[in-house]
Amino acid sequence: MSTAPDTKKLRVQAIRWQAQGICSYELVDPDGHALEPYEAGAHVDLYLPGGIVRSYSLAGDPSDNSHWLLGVLLEAKSLGGSSAMHKKVRVGDLLEVGTARNAFRMANAAKHSILIAGGIGITPLKSMAHALKSAGATFDLHYCARGPNHVAFMQELQALVPQGHLHLHFDGGEPSKGLDIANLLKVAVPDTHVYFCGPAGFMRACAEASSHWPKEAVHCEHFKAPETKPLDLPDGAFEVHLVKSGATIQVGPDQTIVRAIELTGRRVPTSCLSGLCGACKVEYVAGEVDHRDYILNDDERTHCMTVCVSRAKGKTLSLNL
Ligand code: FES
Repeated sequence: MSTAPDTKKLRVQAIRWQAQGICSYELVDPDGHALEPYEAGAHVDLYLPGGIVRSYSLAGDPSDNSHWLLGVLLEAKSLGGSSAMHKKVRVGDLLEVGTARNAFRMANAAKHSILIAGGIGITPLKSMAHALKSAGATFDLHYCARGPNHVAFMQELQALVPQGHLHLHFDGGEPSKGLDIANLLKVAVPDTHVYFCGPAGFMRACAEASSHWPKEAVHCEHFKAPETKPLDLPDGAFEVHLVKSGATIQVGPDQTIVRAIELTGRRVPTSCLSGLCGACKVEYVAGEVDHRDYILNDDERTHCMTVCVSRAKGKTLSLNL
């Protein structure tokens, strides 16, 4: 069973002020080696001072392995992550960084793509814009922000997105005055895929506006678990069989599977503990799963689950661990 996360030290080569409350961080290999390849939409975990682990989307060009680019918004109610990035991390520092993972993959088949970013949600969508441009695919990028001072990566976006296809929408902090998402997605256009990422209210609006689109044409990534679905929902005891190790574990009504496994001295890799990142995804081979994550698609759910939030519907589950 996997234990310690696979991490490496990367040097902070540059920090740039991008917009109000947003800085970008350019990370490089300290010995000048190329970084591992990643796909547009991927994110990495940063292991910050004070034992804080945070996931950030890679915002650069996936075909450029000379550095990784992150964009970090200083949260007003930071729990330590964005505050550590903005206030403690300096150019020249070494940061411990995990491998790139992608829970926000692009579809290959799209003839056209609509990218919709809310605030700092621009980061994964910017890397998608790079990938689409490299592939010669057409796309529109809608970037919703409070005002011009809140637009990150402006110069890069202007150079990257073909003329007439970068749409900035300013709402002054009042979403009803911004982009009419329902109108934008009113017609489900064949062979067109929609990607969105942003804060909770924006995500809800995009999900509602795209609900009549084919499921496989709509892709999103949450930063936080939607507020309508509280995560602390453990609500029934069950038994988990770990097929590879031969162990049987009792999961209490107030426990997650991850926690129950940890209490036996074993570990499953985790990051968000909220069903958002996919770090704890495991295969299940028997039992019915109550899926409570926000990242697995229907195909994946037929054989995989996230053990940080999902549970058994019945009395037992068998995991391929
Ligand atoms: S730890 Fe992120 S989905 Fe489980």
